[in-house]
Amino acid sequence: MAKTSKRFVCQSCGAVHPRWAGKCDACDAWNSIVEEIVEAAPIGGGKRTSGGQSGKKVDFVSLKGESEQKKRLTSGIGELDRVLGGGLVDGSATLIGGDPGIGKSTLLLQAAASLSRQAPVAYISGEEAIDQIRMRARRLQVEDASVELAAATNVRDILASLDRADGPKVAIIDSIQTMYVDQLDSAPGTVGQVRASAQELIRLAKRRGIAVLLVGHVTKEGAIAGPRVLEHMVDTVLYFEGERGHPFRILRGVKNRFGPTDEIGVFDMTEIGLQEVANPSALFLADRQDGVAGAAVFAGIEGSRPMLVEIQALVAPSAYGTPRRAVVGWDGNRLAMLLAVLETRGGLDLSGRDVYLNVAGGLRIAEPAADLAVAAAIVSSLTGVPVPQGTVVFGEVGLSGEVRAVGRTDARLKEAAKLGFGQALGPKVRREKRQSGQNRVENGASMLSEIGDLGQLIRTLEESADGPIRILDADARR
Ligand code: TYD
Ligand code: MG
Repeated sequence: MAKTSKRFVCQSCGAVHPRWAGKCDACDAWNSIVEEIVEAAPIGGGKRTSGGQSGKKVDFVSLKGESEQKKRLTSGIGELDRVLGGGLVDGSATLIGGDPGIGKSTLLLQAAASLSRQAPVAYISGEEAIDQIRMRARRLQVEDASVELAAATNVRDILASLDRADGPKVAIIDSIQTMYVDQLDSAPGTVGQVRASAQELIRLAKRRGIAVLLVGHVTKEGAIAGPRVLEHMVDTVLYFEGERGHPFRILRGVKNRFGPTDEIGVFDMTEIGLQEVANPSALFLADRQDGVAGAAVFAGIEGSRPMLVEIQALVAPSAYGTPRRAVVGWDGNRLAMLLAVLETRGGLDLSGRDVYLNVAGGLRIAEPAADLAVAAAIVSSLTGVPVPQGTVVFGEVGLSGEVRAVGRTDARLKEAAKLGFGQALGPKVRREKRQSGQNRVENGASMLSEIGDLGQLIRTLEESADGPIRILDADARR
């Protein structure tokens, strides 16, 4: 490491202070001052003259040109490789964030074992003792893998051990919050330490062509000292998520300089570690009961894959003046918007009613195409009329109640047909699009009932009921 000194910088106004303080004098912000390392070498490579002449000319090249194909290491865990964009890139830095206890160490130990068949791998833990890691490896049935293990937290020592010609090609750091650089006085886990440690490790990754994987716990305070402070420094950011109490775990790409960012990997946490889930739709629909009011199957797209999930809604009379709206797995603001559209354009009265929404299986949906499925689940709960059996729903809902086209209709319909669904409620497919482009609808065209607006959705559900549909607790139909 180059000769360094320290400084204290306010994260809110950028003021530099001689020593740490709880409050910044410049902008009055509290707890905003962070310790940083400053490289001693002056900007301009040390040849600065009094005339301000400094720096070397940069060699510009043309945009067109051969680019070196990056080498990738595949872990053999398909769900992980796909989210990475086809494997780990040499010399890349990857951040794997997630809540404590979600399974990051488990995933990475399994990945380390698989990767070690192709390249030397080092697993450095600052959280667990060697014995604990060995016990976990036995539980995961990977104790024979040739992974180099170490329990260490001093970044200087770690750099010294990794920085050798015959060193590992993959280094896993579990977790970045336990690492520290000894030039800084602040404790491990603080913003300054987390950033400085990551910076040193990333620098080594680039220089030696090592793929570095950093584990980052999402902290209670959210952004502060959590993985977010590293997101701009690394090449790839993956988040490992899931609901406690659910065995499903989702690995989600958030940023990727070498691949797509909308892919997800689905895992099942079992007694012997994480198992890949090859057919997530079947898993997410496993506990579903047919013919129950308040549920709709959404034909969604996650990354490159179509995925069916059940959306459950419960509309109940409100005990308080202000009705409750609670959402798990979807955006609360989007729900508020959809309820307003259902009231003004669909003619439903939801004002005195609580609305609860849940995406079954612990998946979090971000696609606007879920709007129509959410609307169907809400209407179904309000009226007690189940969505017709064997039906999937998808489509974006606009503010005037119109159902808007979404991408990859054919892929959605095919997945639905594969899982035994015979009908779909979805947006109108434009004639010229039937044959070409993203929205090509071939095999599925016959199962698609086109829904133009929310009024038509309500009428379609009405027609499927045996008699006229009634609002359960009162006459909510204006
Ligand atoms: P862990 O990988 O230690 O989480 P993190 O590193 O994200 O903090 O996972 C811990 C949880 O996973 C723990 O509650 C037990 C569970 N688990 C299993 O269910 N099966 C297993 O084979 C293993 C190793 C862990
Ligand atoms: Mg861990």
